[in-house]
Amino acid sequence: MEKPFSFFLVTDTHYFDSEFKRTGEAYEKRSRTDQKCVAETPAIIDAGFAQIAQDKNTDVILIPGDLVYRGEYQSHVGFRERLYKLKEQGKKIYLITARHDYCEDGEPVEFDGDELIPVKGMPRDELRDFYKDFGFDDAISEHRESMSYVAQIADGIRLLALNCDGDCKDFKGLWDDQMQWALSEIQKAHEAGEYIFAMTHYPLLPFAPIMHLIGDAKLTDWEKRANEFADAGLDLIFTGHMHAQAITDYTTEKGNTITDVQTGCFVGCPCAYRKVTFEGSTVNIKSYTIDDFDYDKQGKTAEEYFQWRFDRMINLKMDEILPKPAKKILDGFTLKKLGRLLCFKVDKSIESRLAKEVGIELVRNIFIGNEPYVKGTPMYEAMATLLKRLHPVTHIVERKMRAKSPVLSDIDSFVLSMIGDEKQRDYDTVLKINRK
Ligand SMILES: [Fe+2]
Ligand SMILES: [Fe+2]
Repeated sequence: MEKPFSFFLVTDTHYFDSEFKRTGEAYEKRSRTDQKCVAETPAIIDAGFAQIAQDKNTDVILIPGDLVYRGEYQSHVGFRERLYKLKEQGKKIYLITARHDYCEDGEPVEFDGDELIPVKGMPRDELRDFYKDFGFDDAISEHRESMSYVAQIADGIRLLALNCDGDCKDFKGLWDDQMQWALSEIQKAHEAGEYIFAMTHYPLLPFAPIMHLIGDAKLTDWEKRANEFADAGLDLIFTGHMHAQAITDYTTEKGNTITDVQTGCFVGCPCAYRKVTFEGSTVNIKSYTIDDFDYDKQGKTAEEYFQWRFDRMINLKMDEILPKPAKKILDGFTLKKLGRLLCFKVDKSIESRLAKEVGIELVRNIFIGNEPYVKGTPMYEAMATLLKRLHPVTHIVERKMRAKSPVLSDIDSFVLSMIGDEKQRDYDTVLKINRK
């Protein structure tokens, strides 16, 4: 048997070059509702890449897109310099680009006081050659029209790197001729007795029930593509984009399963990346987070800093969405009071928690992964009772939504499955693959 092979997977680095201005109200305004720590990207990425470079036994790094903040040309220059540095240290990098990597109408900006100052954008058709040393020129097959390729990343293991920019508008997916090429590459690999797995920017699978309702959370035509891939014998795909840690399975009618390993954003809570090790027919997946970075973190640890940024974003977004009375109820409301209002008792260990804070935490947990409130925890029990009390309302919604959105046909399990994940495998897991 071949010896084990490992790679790192890093995604959504969203680098904003250190030459750009990044202070003042114009920046803060954008930053307040952003999970990403954009001004901090040079420091975070340097720290993260240094962590990765310390592992002298792992030479391959995969990056499925959203390399820079918003298509700034100079950000690509700064990011590519960092990739060349890794290359000098013996790392081989395979990447694809995604929708934040190009901009053709002068939309990218730097921030100076109250002002947004336009900067040069990266034309999409320059990306392939710009990053030729990071996958494209090494390809054993290339689909130029879509900026996709296949690379031999180890003995017996091939990477199918699929760009999914689609039409750069509403269609975020794989074109039919791109898919035909991909399927023939899968077949070629199998005929040669080799294992092949894929990488796209957009997730192939919705990673939580609510992601079925969010158009941007997965590839357009995801179900069709998931069926085609799995039935062609592709059983593993690595994705990014949602800035969330999640591992999700999908099984076709014919009984073939494909697993989507989504990795969180490198520069936003929880700033995770993965190490993936192939050994025979098992794949061992382990996750790491960035321990620290050189920046004024206002006395916080890196972990606290990232969490603070995430919570601030959700807090403001909640304020935007919630009607005023709901906001008022939530603001000073503890779980104890909420229970009293709806005639149920909340466990002592959580009764003093503010309902709003709990709401923010539950959203954060979905993105961080390994949602902790499984059956038996006081939070699960409180939520289950709360949902029961709300049945007069939720049953009406369920009846209305049954045909349109099947995931909403049972609101209790819809909510409960998102606060507690029985599998606890969003970070670390061992998968069985079809490798001979
Ligand atoms: Fe992203
Ligand atoms: Fe994205």
